[in-house]
Amino acid sequence: DLLGEIKRLEDLFSVDTAKLKAITEHFISELAKGLSKEGGSIPMNPTWCMSFPTGHEQGTFLALDMGGTNLRVCEIILPEEKGEFDIIQSKYRMPEELKTGTADELWGYVADCLQQFIEYHHEGEKLGNLPLGFTFSYPASQDYIDNGVLQRWTKGFDIDGVEGEDVVPQFEAALKERGVPIKLTALINDTTGTLIASNYTDDEMRVGCIFGTGCNAAYMEHAGEVPKLAHMNLPADQEIAINCEWGAFDNEHKILPRTPYDVIIDKDSPRPGQQTFEKMIAGLYLGEIFRLVLVDLHSQPHVQIFPNQDISALQKPYSLDASFLSDIENDPFENLQETHDSFDSKLGIKTTKPELELIRRLTELIGTRAARLSACGVAAICKKKGYTTAHVGADGSVFNKYPHFKARGAQALKEILDWDKDRDGKKLGRGRDPIEILPAEDGSGVGAALIAALTIKRVQQGH
Ligand code: BG6
Ligand code: GLC
Repeated sequence: DLLGEIKRLEDLFSVDTAKLKAITEHFISELAKGLSKEGGSIPMNPTWCMSFPTGHEQGTFLALDMGGTNLRVCEIILPEEKGEFDIIQSKYRMPEELKTGTADELWGYVADCLQQFIEYHHEGEKLGNLPLGFTFSYPASQDYIDNGVLQRWTKGFDIDGVEGEDVVPQFEAALKERGVPIKLTALINDTTGTLIASNYTDDEMRVGCIFGTGCNAAYMEHAGEVPKLAHMNLPADQEIAINCEWGAFDNEHKILPRTPYDVIIDKDSPRPGQQTFEKMIAGLYLGEIFRLVLVDLHSQPHVQIFPNQDISALQKPYSLDASFLSDIENDPFENLQETHDSFDSKLGIKTTKPELELIRRLTELIGTRAARLSACGVAAICKKKGYTTAHVGADGSVFNKYPHFKARGAQALKEILDWDKDRDGKKLGRGRDPIEILPAEDGSGVGAALIAALTIKRVQQGH
C-alpha cells in the first residue's frame, strides 16, 4: 500500500520544531567543545585569517579552487577602492577517477590546469611574484596560513598518502616539476573564502556557508573563546576565522534522527563514522538517500513498487545525483509527466500515478530534511555568538539550485529562533527575518584573493 508507505516515510524523514531546537542546543555545545583544548568531533579549525577585509585590499592575485566537483583557476584584480573586481577564470572538471587515484595524479592534474591557465593568459611573462590563494575545501589543520595538514578526506575522496600530510609541499613539488613559477600565499577553505568575500560587499555578513557537494560553515571568533589556541598568547579580542567543519557534527550519533538509509550511506562510504551531519544534507548524498529508499521499498513485495520490473539501473550506487531530485521537485505537471519520462529514459522503469506520487513526496522529504537540519547549524553559530541580527552568506549547488532549499531553511530558522512569536506567544507581523541566509559572493575567487591580500599585509606588518 503506497499511501501507507508515504506516511511511514514522512514519519522517518520529518524533523519537528522541538527536535530542531534540541539539535541546535547540542550543536552549540559541540562548537564550544571543538574550540576546547580537549577538542570534540567538530574540528573547529583556526584558519589564520585574522580579520574581515577593510575594502582597501588591492592587487592582482591568482586563485585556485579544488572543491570536489570542479577545479577552477582565476585571476582577480582587486580595485584600489572597494568596488567591481575584475576576474578571468577557467573551469576544469575534476575527473571522477582522480578522487580515488594517487596523490601524484591529483597534484599533477591540479598543477597542469594552473600551468595551462598561466600559459594561456601570461605567455612568456615573469610571474614569480603573483600571489596564489589556494582554496582546498577539506578539513586541514594549519599552524600557518600557508600550510595545511589534511585531517581526512571528505566528499567521497579517497587518495592515499595525503591524510596526515601537509598538502602544500605536495602541491608545490608538482608545480616545481612543471616549472610553474608560482608561490602559494594562503591555503583556505571554501567557507572561509565565502565569509570574507561576502563581508567585503556586505558588512553585516557574519557567517559563510557552503551547501553543495559538501556542507560546512566558517565564522569569525575571538581568540579568547578558543582555549586550544591559548599557547599562542593572542590578545583575547583578536579575531580569527574558524572553519567549523561542521559536517562532522554528531559523529557520536547522539541526536540526529538518522534513518536506516543514512546508516547504509555511512557504512558504504570510504570513511565510515565520519561526517554524520554532512551525509544527511550535502548534495553528494541526496540522490543516494533517495535511491536507497526506492531499492528498499522494491525489495519488500507487500509494498508493490515497480513490481515485476527490472530495476538494475536503479541498483547502481551513486547513480542519481541531487539534480535528479531537483528535477522531480520542479516537475510542473500535475500528473508528474517529466518525472515519469525521466524514470523511463534514465532508469528503464515505467511508473504509475501512485508510484509517482510517492517519488515526488520522497524528494520533498529528503530536500526538506536537508534544509531544516542545515538551519540548526546556522542557528547554533548565531546563538553561540549572540547574534540576534546577521546576514549569512551561502554558496554551493544545493543552496543555489535545489528547489525551495532557501525557503525551507528560512522557515526552520524561524521555528528554532521563535521569530513568529513574541514573548506572550502572540504572532509577530511580517518583516525581514533578523537572520537571513543570502547568496554569497564568489568565495574561492574573490575570497581567496582578499585573504591572500590580507595575509601579505599582515606579514609586511610583521604579525
Ligand atoms: C562554489 C564556490 O560556488 O561553490 C566554491 O566558489 C565551493 O568555493 C562550491 O566549493 C561548492 O559548491 P559545489 O556544489 O560545487 O560543491
Ligand atoms: C566538506 C569539506 C569542507 C568543505 C565542505 C563544502 O565538508 O570537509 O572542508 O568546506 O565540504 O565544500
